[in-house]
Amino acid sequence: MTSIETDYQKQHPGSAARYARALTMFPNGVTHDGRFVEPFPLYVARSNGAYKWDVDGNRLIDYVTGHGALLLGHAHPALVAAVAEQMARGTHYGAEHELEMRWAELVMQLFPSIERLRFTASGTEATMLALRLARAYTGRTTVLRLSGHYHGWHDLLTRDAAADANPPGVPAGLLHATEVLPADIEQIERVLAQRNDIAAIILEPTGASYGAVPIATEFLHALRQLADTYQVVLIFDEVVTGFRVLPGGVQQRASVHADLTTLAKVLAGGLPGGAVGGRVDIMQYLAFGDAAWNREHKIRHNGTFNANPLSAAAGVTMLEHVADGASCAHATALCERLVAGMNAELRTRELAGWAVYSDASIFHLLVGSQVEFAPGELPASVPVAELKSGGDARLLRAVRLGMNNHGVDLMRGRSGFLSAAHTEADVVATVAAFAATLDELEA
Ligand SMILES: Cc1ncc(COP(=O)(O)O)c(C=O)c1O
Repeated sequence: MTSIETDYQKQHPGSAARYARALTMFPNGVTHDGRFVEPFPLYVARSNGAYKWDVDGNRLIDYVTGHGALLLGHAHPALVAAVAEQMARGTHYGAEHELEMRWAELVMQLFPSIERLRFTASGTEATMLALRLARAYTGRTTVLRLSGHYHGWHDLLTRDAAADANPPGVPAGLLHATEVLPADIEQIERVLAQRNDIAAIILEPTGASYGAVPIATEFLHALRQLADTYQVVLIFDEVVTGFRVLPGGVQQRASVHADLTTLAKVLAGGLPGGAVGGRVDIMQYLAFGDAAWNREHKIRHNGTFNANPLSAAAGVTMLEHVADGASCAHATALCERLVAGMNAELRTRELAGWAVYSDASIFHLLVGSQVEFAPGELPASVPVAELKSGGDARLLRAVRLGMNNHGVDLMRGRSGFLSAAHTEADVVATVAAFAATLDELEA
């Protein structure tokens, strides 16, 4: 542990110096909670393909890939060209434009459940608008959400679990806007049967934290049935999974349609952007009508950067490239090889209670579990809280720093997103970095 941290300090003096400056500007010196790590985070100077280079010139194989947005890798030439061309033609017309329609057509082609959509500036905005749409459509107030599932940081979806009953800064009146339940179909049905104020159910359709706490496809089918029976709006938050799990997201893979879908990340090709889309009768609440409708029903929605031409140019290029499914398939196949390689290293070292697991092109680590299990053999009995956290925080931090020392950057030190730019050689090098990190930990 100590030697890993000492090496980290030695290898990254430029990042250490920048962090000292950043501490005078940002709380904790960071601009995103997930990037905070002690003793300091890495400062990146440039990126290309599967790699980024820190300010000290160290190359990192990147598994953060723009927090999951960069399915084609960093600085993909077609994306760079499309954005540069659009940049020269203007970044904001304050007007409708052709490219937003091409973008929407691609989304609707890949997500048949989307009959109408509205672009937003982020995934957070998309889920905020989805909740408002569901409430306006049903005339009901409360939204069911699943414990641990993340939908952005806004007030309405910040209360996460019973333990989180009173998140600081969120008005107490808003806490009743959501009901938080575990991913347990019987409990959800009981609440739906007892109450008539439930407008919607929202979830991450591969499970909390992009699949760190996996849920079964049958659960999605059961939710669809419950939503139909109790006439509540089913919202799939496909901000991470959309265009990644398959081009048509989890909805394509599971053959389940959502009433509303929220999208971001891959959608906007690595630039800021999001969208909410779905059934025309629900989306209609964004449309103008006669004076009475506008007064009583219409949802007001503006947003300076909605469908801005730069994000549209990047989004169109991204979706044109991923539509045939080859990028998703490549990233998924490599992810499976990476997981197999990392688990083999755990088995060699007989690290019981450790596992690497994945869904599509997203992988997760569980380290130092309280539950006894053979290396790499994640059992169903691991508690949800442990899956969500990744296990022992002290070990996870050591893995994170150790992997950085060996030229690999993981998402929050315990997850990763593969891209079309990653190669077999990157996987081999990552497994070697993992093996070296484990050796140092054991020492
Ligand atoms: C499932 C999910 N929904 C919504 C969001 C929020 O998206 P954004 O960060 O673009 O606001 C995220 C972000 O990670 C997410 O993972």
